[in-house]
Amino acid sequence: MRNKIIDFLDLGAQPLANNFINKKKLLNKERKYRLIICYNKINKLVSIKKIISSNDMFNDKYPYRSSTSKTMRVHLKKLSNIIKKSKPKKILEIGSNDGCFIKNFKKNKTIGIEPCANVEKITKKNNYNTYPEYWTPKLARKILKKYNKVDLIFSSNTISHIKNLDDVFKGINIALDDKGIFIIEDPSLLECLKKNTYDQFYNEHIYVFSYLGLSNALKKHNLEIFKIEKLEIHGGSNRYYIKKNSNVLKLHKSVNSHIYEEKKFGLNKLNAYTNFAKRVKLSKKKLLDIFKNCKKNNKKVIGYGATAKSVTILNYCNINNKMIDYFIDTTPDKQNKYTPGTKILIKKSVNLIDANVDFVFLGAWNFQKEIFNKEKKYIKNGGKFIIHTPYPKII
Ligand code: TMP
Repeated sequence: MRNKIIDFLDLGAQPLANNFINKKKLLNKERKYRLIICYNKINKLVSIKKIISSNDMFNDKYPYRSSTSKTMRVHLKKLSNIIKKSKPKKILEIGSNDGCFIKNFKKNKTIGIEPCANVEKITKKNNYNTYPEYWTPKLARKILKKYNKVDLIFSSNTISHIKNLDDVFKGINIALDDKGIFIIEDPSLLECLKKNTYDQFYNEHIYVFSYLGLSNALKKHNLEIFKIEKLEIHGGSNRYYIKKNSNVLKLHKSVNSHIYEEKKFGLNKLNAYTNFAKRVKLSKKKLLDIFKNCKKNNKKVIGYGATAKSVTILNYCNINNKMIDYFIDTTPDKQNKYTPGTKILIKKSVNLIDANVDFVFLGAWNFQKEIFNKEKKYIKNGGKFIIHTPYPKII
């Protein structure tokens, strides 16, 4: 089929989403990359068009820490408790970050894979078995030799960051026991399209998975999704339970109902994506109108949560440091730096929004519940938030 990969959304020139800028480098020219999103009509995968080298994004300066949010800590603890009931002998995590998941288990039970050396050091220091490497068939063979096959492989918000899915799944086939289970959690394409959260796309998120796309990529490697759970985490994700074809575990009813939902929304047809792109353009206009209005009326606007996602929004909508005074964020490695592209100062979050702030742009909208809980006083005193999903509004 000619033109099997169709571009449907252009989010413009974008800097690397986690490349927060030091004051000293503020005047340096930043590298930007055109962020175009495309749909593959054959395998149904939705991905970004120009893929940046992994080493430029995942290196020893990676600022993101899973453990900074309570929501994430609680979420992974709950899953760990479920996993413990099945008494796995060995658990391997791909993208173990600062150990937010593996620290729920005994040290001799887990193996962590984390290519960002600064983050991997945290778990290594605490005596967890972690490898500062990318997940590849070569590493899978190394692990097989040392530990034998593992019975559970988990990966949260990581597989969507890896270009070569074939290599990922080859590695799974090598390291996973024939009766073992592979669990992936990643943002849901269906939720992204429903909630108009186009900021799920940034240079690191090479894919936003639907069941339809992911199952095709797995099928080539004799791997099969046998159960799906919907999660609130990261603004709407799916937890996919995957097994080898040779494993006779029954298909859970959630799979068929999920396929039905995705097809009903049209995720297997180009129209769903071109319509989404139209809504995104409208969203940009409406969000910019809100910010322009604030500026016109001399309102003080700050940002809450300098997320990688918000980098896409700010750069796409041309919202800059004249419209947002500063961001607050709990991540130490982001504090006292500036947002990529838009150069807005990030301050340490002291959990309380200043009384003289009129509006707060919710960059970490995916942690809305946790943040609203912390900021009860600001809300009680009439404080307002600006949010872009499902459409830009003041709440
Ligand atoms: P994420 O959406 O990529 O997970 O990033 C969430 C960011 O939001 C991270 O930098 C931490 C920040 N954050 C706060 O500053 N305060 C909060 O209360 C929460 C939940 C997150």
